Amino acid sequence: MTVGIPLLEVRGLARAFGGLRAVDALSFDVQAGEIVGLLGPNGSGKTTALNLISGALRPDSGSVRFLGRELSGQPAHRIVRAGIARTFQLVRVFESMTVLENVQAGRMFGADTGADRPDAQALLARVGLAGQAARRADE
Ligand SMILES: Nc1ncnc2c1ncn2[C@@H]1O[C@H](COP(=O)(O)OP(=O)(O)OP(=O)(O)O)[C@@H](O)[C@H]1O
Ligand SMILES: [Mg+2]
Repeated sequence: MTVGIPLLEVRGLARAFGGLRAVDALSFDVQAGEIVGLLGPNGSGKTTALNLISGALRPDSGSVRFLGRELSGQPAHRIVRAGIARTFQLVRVFESMTVLENVQAGRMFGADTGADRPDAQALLARVGLAGQAARRADE
């Protein structure tokens, strides 16, 4: 792990929808190993902030650095390869893919990339779904 710089540095992040400034001058750091919550009333810009960090939305201005590397404005597939994954408030499956493929898709990203991490089939077994691996998720 890189020492001395924050894991994530957000500086002056801003995004407006028409005249509505959903996120304005958002700045914070996340250090390695730290768990940080983002609190605010409905409509205060939490989801927009996560969309800007993960690349679902482009910021109007500001910077998002991950391990010192500027990611702001990059497409989501680059940001996820750099190591930033997100989840959604409402969890959904890829309906036309199999149960196993759904787990494989989620498992491609995230911090645990060691060779000894469990494979998708083992993860299914852990939650009692090993026998369903080949079925379509919408079944
Ligand atoms: N794509 C969009 N187009 C237009 N306005 C948007 C869009 N996304 C969000 N907004 C507006 O931006 C503001 C911030 O919304 P956001 O969803 O980020 O809030 P939130 O803090 O996640 O709210 P909640 O607690 O309800 O999840 C709201 O006024 C919302 O209506
Ligand atoms: Mg939200």
